[in-house]
Amino acid sequence: MMFPFKKRRKEAAAVPEPVAPPVIFPDVCIFLVERRMGAARRGFLTSLAQRKGFRVMHEYSGVVTHVVSEQNSFADILGWIERKTGRPMQSAEDQESPHILDISWFTDSMSAGKPVPVEARHRLGILGSPVSKDKEALLTVSSYACQRRTPLTHHNAEITDALEILSKAAAFQGSEVRSLAFSRAASVLKSLPLKLRSAEEARNLVWCGGHCQAVIQEILEDGVCHEVEALKVSEQYQCMELLTSIFGVGVRTAERWYKDGVRKLSDLADPNMKLSADQRAGIEHYTDLKQPVTLQEAERMEHLIKDALHRFVPDLKITMTGGFRRGKQQGHDVDFLITHPSEEALSGLLQKAVAWMDSQGLLLYHHTKTRSHVHAHRRSTHMDGHETCYAIFALPSLDSSKCEAEAGVPGARTTRRAVRVDLVVTLYDEYPFALLGWTGSKHFERELRRYSWHEKNLTLNSHGLYDAEKNCSLPATSEEEIFALLGLQYVPPTYRNA
Ligand code: CTP
Ligand code: MN
Ligand code: MN
Repeated sequence: MMFPFKKRRKEAAAVPEPVAPPVIFPDVCIFLVERRMGAARRGFLTSLAQRKGFRVMHEYSGVVTHVVSEQNSFADILGWIERKTGRPMQSAEDQESPHILDISWFTDSMSAGKPVPVEARHRLGILGSPVSKDKEALLTVSSYACQRRTPLTHHNAEITDALEILSKAAAFQGSEVRSLAFSRAASVLKSLPLKLRSAEEARNLVWCGGHCQAVIQEILEDGVCHEVEALKVSEQYQCMELLTSIFGVGVRTAERWYKDGVRKLSDLADPNMKLSADQRAGIEHYTDLKQPVTLQEAERMEHLIKDALHRFVPDLKITMTGGFRRGKQQGHDVDFLITHPSEEALSGLLQKAVAWMDSQGLLLYHHTKTRSHVHAHRRSTHMDGHETCYAIFALPSLDSSKCEAEAGVPGARTTRRAVRVDLVVTLYDEYPFALLGWTGSKHFERELRRYSWHEKNLTLNSHGLYDAEKNCSLPATSEEEIFALLGLQYVPPTYRNA
């Protein structure tokens, strides 16, 4: 957008300015919006800019070329200017219209020591476009998470962290509906290509109801949400968080324990407590397991697993799934899918491999679930009948593997760390479905199933895709094919962090 600068200079001369250092960039005329910035910061930024030779206006007028604001939306600023001037803002073709900018243009210019060219990322929006790009992005969010791309890192983490705590707290209180509502809102915000600047912008967002709106507004205005802060320090929340972080402990068990007065791990040592084998192992290795598994550790785990399993079937296909496949740098466990075109090669494999790994001192705990028949046409889409080993491995530390190699004695002077691992064996023709089902995120999976059922009348699980009406299953040889069968655009794993 170009401006008739000559005309502006003439006009500017007519507006007397308070004493300020000489103007070096007469073509640029800045106005800093005080709203949300505050008078003190505005005063500081004004003198900073003036010292660097910028012209900064104290009142808004027609000579202003760059309107700069902090934490305001495009609509906020337009409304503010229109109220100030008492007339509607002009269209983009109108050369009198100023740039409506985020503080980033200002800070970039201050560090450059000169006005930097206005780029798209500096703009809050463009005048005259019927719907600004930002607004369009906010208005066109799809309703199902599997229709959206959700990267691992996004622009609204403060808000989504708060919504996820509310979701968890609702689940802890036994309210799955409320929990899901907060998860859905958080997931929508994770997919936004921009940072929300005002609650107003979130007003028409899908799945963001009144409660979520209030949370968004509070965080944008105060930086924190008081309901969330109160939850974080509450005994029930902290205790449920602690108990559910134990391997083998779900929300229901934790709830029961909490009601029975369990508050800390040591309370579980009571001989009257009935604990499952999973839970006993989870408590025993608690300190190690609560430490996140790093990508590097996951890759060492992969090496170890492949090495062990390939001893039994050399051309076994082994794929790391779960969070690491979605690009996460750490996780609570490492998930692997194991398959082979020959069903015979898979038969008895897990049992043999697990026994061998156990004999090598690699396993601290394991619990294997045999393959179960999953009813193809049942509405219960959550079923997962693959043969699965839920294990706790003893992963040798990097140094100790070196030690072992040097000493030539396995297990000698090793430091090992407990790591949770899921090993899933799947039949070859079910592999794409298992891969899709075990890559997650959990919310992405839930949404895929909801979409399949409600939009396509198809049942999806990690074994296949079924058409109940025609009483048949729809085969696929890749994840891409499954998305195509569902009439969905393919979403790569790194965009499934819903
Ligand atoms: N899953 C499943 N059946 C189970 C357990 C898990 O289908 N019995 C799926 C989940 O739906 C999820 C994926 O396996 O999509 C991975 O689960 P999990 O390891 O719990 O989560 P991650 O996304 O890998 O997170 P993290 O990095 O913390 O492990
Ligand atoms: Mn995982
Ligand atoms: Mn897992």
